[in-house]
Amino acid sequence: MNRERTLVLVKPGAVQRELIGEIITRFERKGIKIVGLKMLQMTEELINEHYAHLRDQPFFTDLKRSMMATPVVAIALEGYDIVKRVRTLTGATNPREAAPGTIRGDYSVSIRNNVVHASGTIEEALDELQRFFTEDEMFTYRRLNVMDYADE
Ligand code: CMP
Repeated sequence: MNRERTLVLVKPGAVQRELIGEIITRFERKGIKIVGLKMLQMTEELINEHYAHLRDQPFFTDLKRSMMATPVVAIALEGYDIVKRVRTLTGATNPREAAPGTIRGDYSVSIRNNVVHASGTIEEALDELQRFFTEDEMFTYRRLNVMDYADE
């Protein structure tokens, strides 16, 4: 079990639907530690880099447009096996297949607007965190009721 960090993006579709708070609350209520949080406007350049593996997909132009529609909210999360655990909380990429109780399962029916992005692997998470946060925009701190958090 390794203590890791991972990235979640609250996508423009969710920002437009005023779901930023709901999504952050999902992680907080679960007891997952937030170590970085910021709003930013994605540029074409940033999207080309972030979704480079999808550049040949027919939906890439659409994806680009939707990711630039409003600013996104980037969240850095920390904990043991956090990459996998956050993916479990976000649910399947296609919201139609995402289980109820997951973020995508509860808030979306469309893969084009699947509410959040979450890093898929530890390597991806390291890359993606560097893309969205500088070292001094991520924090190391202890929560008060440490006994409640296996992540501390
Ligand atoms: P995300 O987890 O951000 O990773 C890549 C994104 O591409 C994905 O969420 C979806 O928003 C989008 N995507 C994946 N497959 C499709 C598809 N078939 N049609 C439209 N968008 C897609």
